Amino acid sequence: AKTLTHLAEQKTLESSFVRDEDERPKVAYNQFSDVIPVISLAGINDADGRRAEICKKIVEACEDWGIFQVVDHGVDTKLISEMTTLAKEFFALPPDEKLRFDMSGGKKGGFIVSSHLQGEVVQDWREIVTYFSYPIRNRDYSRWPDKPEGWMEVTKKYSEDLMGLACKLLEVLSEAMGLEKEALTKACVDMDQKVVVNYYPKCPQPDLTLGLKRHTDPGTITLLLQDQVGGLQATRDNGKTWITVQPVEGAFVVNLGDHGHFLSNGRFKNADHQAVVNSNSSRLSIATFQNPAPDAIVYPLKVEEGEKPVMEEPITFAEMYRRKMSKDLELANLKKLAK
Ligand code: SIN
Ligand code: FE2
Repeated sequence: AKTLTHLAEQKTLESSFVRDEDERPKVAYNQFSDVIPVISLAGINDADGRRAEICKKIVEACEDWGIFQVVDHGVDTKLISEMTTLAKEFFALPPDEKLRFDMSGGKKGGFIVSSHLQGEVVQDWREIVTYFSYPIRNRDYSRWPDKPEGWMEVTKKYSEDLMGLACKLLEVLSEAMGLEKEALTKACVDMDQKVVVNYYPKCPQPDLTLGLKRHTDPGTITLLLQDQVGGLQATRDNGKTWITVQPVEGAFVVNLGDHGHFLSNGRFKNADHQAVVNSNSSRLSIATFQNPAPDAIVYPLKVEEGEKPVMEEPITFAEMYRRKMSKDLELANLKKLAK
């Protein structure tokens, strides 16, 4: 299984992983910054002042960065540690076991090495395993890893609890927009959830490459669980300043995606981020993407007086995604031409 041992076998980086200079990491994976707020959700359901206080912090973080961390979020610590342990065990399985779920060739869910966006040339330094968890009727358990033992049950519970947490956060944002609590979830029509487990092996030349290329998430909101190694980076000032997000034990990093950005008419930022790798230790992160249904309409839910809508016309989420991908591809091609 040549493709699989591929990453671990490289003593110097293969050229397909080498990024252009302007895309390479600017800040070290472990040079942590604490500018991104860590917000405790303890008391978020209380009718007293505490809820208002928490909501204010969340809303400010979304306006400012589109990214923050939450602790005291109600997701069971034991469930989180089981999820992490089992995910690590999955990546440690023999290549043949992982490749039973090979999703190269366009299969929906499964395992892949060095994924990269469609049409792109430079590869990401990671392995992933992914599964589509909501809506439940779309679950294809034949594409969910059935190993290590017990993981299937744990992933189901994890997905359910994270769906709950995401909806709770979307309630806060809906209220901040002056809308009913369910406004954002309703705009997703039948909310989609996809879980991507990222494993970033140690890398011999981490300064030349990325674990995951710079991007904004397309969906509504993403909940990311990361280990203590560090590697998630976000920007402010249109990419001028990069910071490495400080890992916080048991916390979820929450970031807003393009859909959340558009629905708020640009008030909430879509976090611009990437993952860097290092030569000292491998890293694990688990991203839970909450997306609208493909045919859900994307358009600002409310346009304030004197403001212009950030979108010219309502389009479906599938169309929004298609345009995003073709724009990325166009930019990549322009870059290639300019060389
Ligand atoms: C992601 O953006 O989906 C993952 C980032 C990370 O691994 O920190
Ligand atoms: Fe992301």
